[in-house]
Amino acid sequence: MQLEGIPFSFSSEKMVGAYWYVKWQQALRELRQEARSILKGCDKKKDFPQIQKKLRKLAEAKNKQAKFLEEILSSLNEFEKAAKEIPPIVLQNLYPNQNLLSYVDNIHRDWSWGEVENQESYDFVRTALKDVGTLAVLGSGSSRLAYDLHQEGRFERTIAVDINPLLLMVAKRLMEGKNVKLYDFPIAPLSREDVCLLSKLQAPKKVREGFEFLFSDATNLSFEDSSIDIVLTPWLIDILPHDPLNLMREVSRILKPKGQWVLFGPLGFGYQNPEYHLSPEELEEVAIEAGFQIEKKSQKEMQYMNNPHSQHSRRENLFLFEFTKKENFSLEIEKEEGKLSWAQDTSKAIPLNEKVKLLKQTHQTYHMVLSEIDGVTPIKGLAQKLGPRWGLAPEEAEVSLKNFLTSLDIDD
Ligand SMILES: C[S@@+](CC[C@H](N)C(=O)[O-])C[C@H]1O[C@@H](n2cnc3c(N)ncnc32)[C@H](O)[C@@H]1O
Repeated sequence: MQLEGIPFSFSSEKMVGAYWYVKWQQALRELRQEARSILKGCDKKKDFPQIQKKLRKLAEAKNKQAKFLEEILSSLNEFEKAAKEIPPIVLQNLYPNQNLLSYVDNIHRDWSWGEVENQESYDFVRTALKDVGTLAVLGSGSSRLAYDLHQEGRFERTIAVDINPLLLMVAKRLMEGKNVKLYDFPIAPLSREDVCLLSKLQAPKKVREGFEFLFSDATNLSFEDSSIDIVLTPWLIDILPHDPLNLMREVSRILKPKGQWVLFGPLGFGYQNPEYHLSPEELEEVAIEAGFQIEKKSQKEMQYMNNPHSQHSRRENLFLFEFTKKENFSLEIEKEEGKLSWAQDTSKAIPLNEKVKLLKQTHQTYHMVLSEIDGVTPIKGLAQKLGPRWGLAPEEAEVSLKNFLTSLDIDD
């Protein structure tokens, strides 16, 4: 299937589509909710007209941002039905840590204020890449680096791959020579004027022939085996929530023999289980296991996300590894033994251990309480009904119900 002409290729398109639909709707709700609470705060600042003016402008920008996102991602409406059918809990852990707006600042860096950073990355990476055939950029984000590399004319085909629909939809419009309007909300605005800035994003030029986009998971790609000459993974390996070997094996599978893999970015591994954190030396060892040999490595300190409208500025130590896929390597993937064997072999029984028993009990309690909420009954009423079932006096149940329900962050 396709989204606005971009192939959308996953092992379950329905589930991934529903996931992004839900994230999209959630982002719209949150922006509008933020606008409302900013306006509430504004009422309390009657003695400071300039602060009120700034807050009104910020609230208006949040509402307009929601409108922009509504329009840019309207093709996700295709998944509205799927999102209603699939229970939220099933979608919840599909891409841990990946939200629709996780990398919205990267869009502004790529296409608005980030000239110095973009140039630095481009200069560092371009010399490492061989000059042949097809380049696949995995986790290309809003795709400035992929665009700059493709514009040079060294690659016949460049394929920018990502899972995040906002990033690729924006990039696609820009590459077609269109403008995209989005607000930039710097993390720590330098001045009153910097709390929200309307950016009219634009690519320097329409992209040249041979540039393509693909929605796909970098660890389960829709490319044929041995079909790609060069793979670039910029700032990707350490944000994936699992064993980095999964990415390496997939890169190795799609590369032609003697194909090149260039890894660029930090090795922060902030999110994962420590057993999946790799130091630079360990990364090399593990890459050998996936069929690579190391050709060259370097590192450089670079600016990162230095938005001129923010007080924040950061420098990062970045690595560049150049690997070649060994010529006669064939991937034989053994299943990891031991850990979560019931998840690896889906025909094995799921253990009913103490943790599962506790989870079941907790969820039954959630269900019991939430199913009594009908929009009319107050906490006192719930306590009258549920207290006796739990062997508690209504007044006792009232206290715990109040604590439980307020922890759910239910709006008025
Ligand atoms: C840290 S950002 C880097 C983006 C871009 N390379 C850059 O340098 O600005 C990580 C990117 O990987 C994408 N991503 C996360 N998980 C992915 C996956 N499983 N497959 C493909 N892309 C993924 C995110 O959407 C995001 O664009």
